[in-house]
Amino acid sequence: MKNVKITGHPLIQHKISLIRDVNTGSKDFRELVSEIAMLMCYEATHDLPLKEVELQTPLSIAKTKVISGRKVAFVPILRAGLAMVEGMVRLVPAAKIGHIGIFRDDKTKTAVDYYCKLPFDIAERDVIVADIMLATGSTAVKTINLLKEAGVGNIKIMCIIAAPEGLEAVAAAHPDIEIYCGAIDERLDDNLYIVPGLGDAGDRVFGTK
Ligand code: URA
Repeated sequence: MKNVKITGHPLIQHKISLIRDVNTGSKDFRELVSEIAMLMCYEATHDLPLKEVELQTPLSIAKTKVISGRKVAFVPILRAGLAMVEGMVRLVPAAKIGHIGIFRDDKTKTAVDYYCKLPFDIAERDVIVADIMLATGSTAVKTINLLKEAGVGNIKIMCIIAAPEGLEAVAAAHPDIEIYCGAIDERLDDNLYIVPGLGDAGDRVFGTK
């Protein structure tokens, strides 16, 4: 799929193996997710525009580059995506942060949004959506719908583990969106968990199980 970029860096791959391990507890899981998110964010921001500036070093004038143009916002999907934000903000401290809460209604099998708080100037920003797992893709598709309705033109998704079904759903609904993922797993099981995956990402971040 041409809109999917796999972040194959060895540090990312090693840390993904650690979070898959059932013996990794919440504290380590949270720290690793934050580190993975920081490394993935480095890759997802590779195309931020630069402009040349001149500044004074202790020795002379240097012609050098700084990030220019549009500003950035990060939008974690509640609740697991929250664990990714700290690492991302370490790389881009000026980024604003929006939050989107979506749950899946088991009866209607649809994604229902229950919370959406975005920066007032979101339409002027490039947005990176963060979630640990991209399973069916319904949450990601709904999130992109909300962001496009809010006027956002440049959206990327960052997920640590994706199922092929989720990648296909996002590509079908939003072919313009780039997805950065650390690993593509085999499939979804009957409960819509990613196999082999890492279990329930929210429970593992917050220690709720
Ligand atoms: N959400 C999770 O937390 N885990 C999965 O495997 C799928 C969706």
